[in-house]
Amino acid sequence: MKYLAVLGRQPEISIAELEAQNFPLDIDRLGGVLKLAEKLSIKPLEFLQNLPTGKITIGVSDYSKKASRKTASSEALKLKKILVRHERSVRVVENKDAVLSTATSLHNGLDGKNPRKVELIKVDDEWYRVIGVQDIDSYTKRDQARPARDAKVGMLPPKLAQILINLCGPLKPDSVILDPFCGTGVVLQEALLMGYRAYGTDINDRMIKYSEKNLKWLIANSERLFSGHFGGCCRELGPEPREDGREGPGPENMPFELAQGDAVSFKWTKPIDAVACEGYLGKPFAKIPSEIELKEQKQECGTIIKGFLKNLAEQIKPNTPVVVAAPAWLRENREYERLDIIDEIQNMGYNVDNKSREGLLYHREDQIVARDIIILRKK
Ligand SMILES: C[S@@+](CC[C@H](N)C(=O)[O-])C[C@H]1O[C@@H](n2cnc3c(N)ncnc32)[C@H](O)[C@@H]1O
Repeated sequence: MKYLAVLGRQPEISIAELEAQNFPLDIDRLGGVLKLAEKLSIKPLEFLQNLPTGKITIGVSDYSKKASRKTASSEALKLKKILVRHERSVRVVENKDAVLSTATSLHNGLDGKNPRKVELIKVDDEWYRVIGVQDIDSYTKRDQARPARDAKVGMLPPKLAQILINLCGPLKPDSVILDPFCGTGVVLQEALLMGYRAYGTDINDRMIKYSEKNLKWLIANSERLFSGHFGGCCRELGPEPREDGREGPGPENMPFELAQGDAVSFKWTKPIDAVACEGYLGKPFAKIPSEIELKEQKQECGTIIKGFLKNLAEQIKPNTPVVVAAPAWLRENREYERLDIIDEIQNMGYNVDNKSREGLLYHREDQIVARDIIILRKK
């Protein structure tokens, strides 16, 4: 079976073909994927004619090289015309562009859950049907509805936290994921939702309190707020008051552990299966830092991240995956300058999976401090 993962919007559509057997095809776990689609083995019209009886809703996204709003809507209308001739009742979701936005697909129910609501994707001569759409509303809730937030430690988007966890490679359910710079707990939160156990440490005690508050909130409300997305976290747990007054998990059964500690010297007490973190990113900047500021920041962040990796290397088993988002700073030439730490990291006993690190910079356009994702494995 051939699948597509739509990774970006126009004008920079990028589409990846997936080897489904390598990982579970669950869009709610993939973080960076906007839409997942499965290749049709029959013609699109035939596929639509075989849908269950009753009114159907269709949308068409055209990801072909020469696609436009016109090509997409003319395909949709052509299909509708023939279906109507065969006495089917059809609603077409209007194209404002060659491709339907994630929000349009989601809010029109074209996410593959209802068999009579279908989004078809055209890529030149090939047709696909959408089997999953990124649930932007759930990501927003996970980010903005949690009780403890702190703009100063930066806001790691939940989908990037999922990507960091996924870059650890396949993990068994209930694996312990350590975030030694846990801050307000975004990585830990996503780890729980993906069915793992979370272990967080941070130098700042206030951050530990924030993480605790956020994780308890997540556990108490995961079913109510995120049901249908995740069955993994927060099962069969003891009594703890929930926001809606019903019974929830008790502290002794919490699937997470938190402790205050400096990542450069801390002795972690739980066995660690994987490490995923956004490391210390230094000062936030409103404009491009000067050469002197950059030098200071590289020195400060580099020392902490290298110190942490050296300390960690002595405490984890061979083959343990370690994924770290490190800072990279925007320069006047619009390129990002990274920490020069790869050679030293290798000498600490890690293999660097993405040595060139091309394409693994995560940032919004013109964001001053980008996140440079480094994928390591203990030798
Ligand atoms: C960029 S923030 C991480 C934010 C986090 N991803 C979240 O979800 O809120 C970096 C965190 O590293 C912590 N930190 C800085 N130096 C540290 C150190 N040496 N050891 C452990 N934590 C440290 C800070 O307190 C801060 O919470």
